[in-house]
Amino acid sequence: MTQLHYDVVIIGAGAAGMVCAIQAGYRGLNVLLLDHAPKPGAKIRISGGGKCNFTNRRVEPKHFICANPHFVKSALARYQPEAFIEWVERHNIAYEERDNGQLFTLEGAGQIVAMLRTELDWAGVELQLNCDVVAVIKQHETWSISTSQGQLTSAKLVVATGGLSYPKLRASDFGMKLAKQYGLEVIPSRPGLVPLQMPARQRAWWSDLSGLSLEVAVTAQRGPRFEGAMLITHQGLSGPCILQVSNYWQPGEPISLNLLPDVKNVAEWLLDLKQNAQSLSGALKQHWPKRLVQAWQTKFEFDDHLANYTQLRLDQLGTSLTAWSIYPDDTAGYAKAEVSLGGVSTDEVSSKTFETHKVSGLYFIGEVLDVTGHLGGFNFQWAWASAHACAQDL
Ligand code: FDA
Repeated sequence: MTQLHYDVVIIGAGAAGMVCAIQAGYRGLNVLLLDHAPKPGAKIRISGGGKCNFTNRRVEPKHFICANPHFVKSALARYQPEAFIEWVERHNIAYEERDNGQLFTLEGAGQIVAMLRTELDWAGVELQLNCDVVAVIKQHETWSISTSQGQLTSAKLVVATGGLSYPKLRASDFGMKLAKQYGLEVIPSRPGLVPLQMPARQRAWWSDLSGLSLEVAVTAQRGPRFEGAMLITHQGLSGPCILQVSNYWQPGEPISLNLLPDVKNVAEWLLDLKQNAQSLSGALKQHWPKRLVQAWQTKFEFDDHLANYTQLRLDQLGTSLTAWSIYPDDTAGYAKAEVSLGGVSTDEVSSKTFETHKVSGLYFIGEVLDVTGHLGGFNFQWAWASAHACAQDL
């Protein structure tokens, strides 16, 4: 550290911490951004399959999960995707739009980190890596911070230490512990955007089908319907559609799978097959991988000739195709989760400034808060937007 006192210290040089530091630096503040990891932006580097889904053109509050659904509105309205896109374009980073407004870099997530590092330099931010925070105490109106690199003070403290997913990238519960130290409510954390595991007694069936992918629609007991690809794994289910629904799934509850989302009226479709004496397997093969057709028909004991089916049996068939209730018994845990749900309660912070109501000069931004986005670039948009709002108040 080059100084002993800063206007602002930001703990966590991830997505939110870097953007907050840049914007505070451009406002003329003397900013220290510190991180215990050897490099900044570790999750950005591996995000979006290495291409970083850095935002989404269709951001709306309904894409976020938070105990108070109104909390996200102000920050999202004040920092829209176009603002980040403009930055990306200014740095000549090529990108593409995929389904549903998702924006990805073309040449790799490292470019987003490089862009943010350049901006940190331009904004005059001091970056201190490999820096462990040992203790944080507020004395009078000043924050006193003990670190493995020395002792320092600051007028304001921003916590941007993220969530608990991917512990191998040095994720930590630092922010939640600090919140508790100051008597702030923390909503218990759990893995989100994560594969779901099936009970051990059913695994052999799924495992035999591992590697297969198909288009489904899926819903949890609470929450929206998601459509997209589902991937069958040795342990259970994964793929974008399952990651989405995992944010809403609770242990002990089922998820409902529609295995024919493209067929508008399955009852009519089945009746049609019956009347035309078409085989069930032949029709299913037009929608599913062959291996799944065989395994599924054996599991549910539906034979191929619909001519003998009563209406009741036809209805049962329709239900197992479009509303198959399956009971995962766990998630694949933080090691495989893209985000964590829960975190510092949003009741504790201002939705305009992100300063805590109880402790002046203390701010929480990004994923450490109880705000989790759907898959599709929404989590980064939250990191950028909350960082932007906070930086205007520092
Ligand atoms: P973030 O985790 O980015 O940063 C926290 C920082 O704090 C880290 O640098 C960490 O080292 C540091 N830190 C933690 N504890 C500390 C301590 N005690 N002392 C000092 N420093 C500490 N989202 C999206 O929108 N599009 C995508 O494509 C993807 N893809 C994706 C893939 C994978 C594999 C993962 C794991 C996650 C994603 N995400 C994503 C989610 C996204 O990465 C995540 O929501 C944001 O990075 C959150 O930004 P934050 O700045 O809040 O935390």
